[in-house]
Amino acid sequence: MFTVGILTVSDRCSRGEREDKSGEVIRKVLSQFGARIVEHAIVPDEKESIAGRLTEWADKGGIDIIITTGGTGLAPRDVTPEATLDVIDKAIPGFSEAMRAKGIKKTPHAMLSREVCGTRNQSIIINLPGSPKAVGECLPVILPALPHAIEVVKGEATE
Ligand code: MTE
Repeated sequence: MFTVGILTVSDRCSRGEREDKSGEVIRKVLSQFGARIVEHAIVPDEKESIAGRLTEWADKGGIDIIITTGGTGLAPRDVTPEATLDVIDKAIPGFSEAMRAKGIKKTPHAMLSREVCGTRNQSIIINLPGSPKAVGECLPVILPALPHAIEVVKGEATE
């Protein structure tokens, strides 16, 4: 059992103009994997809002995995990777590489997602693209490595 915070990054969702379908996909997939969702928030595509929430959740402790969805592409307001890079202690490029490698087999557009993954304090932060379809394709790729990653980050791994 591990704990999760979901951060949906979207101007339109934050204004209530669009349903947070991707956040719901994350909630469903992770609940089926045995995770407990302890936080779920929506912020606009603003670097300070994203970095602020990531920092708050990671620094208060008790959240093993923080998953963001949205804002990873090339649109003028896409800044989730920059906000994440600002707050992580260590990058985990393997997570991002694996998700892109799998995604490219489905669509060449997977190359456009600049998702960043890394650690801050004892939390693992993972950027996912914004569409529910992309979330459903990306998240299962990293799930098998998450339990061991959490143990290692917390210093609990024995072997
Ligand atoms: N990755 C997968 N696996 N499947 C997808 O459909 N969509 C791509 C990409 N990554 C996609 C994907 C598209 S179309 C874009 S524009 C980028 O993610 C960035 O999305 P975002 O800006 O909503 O985060």
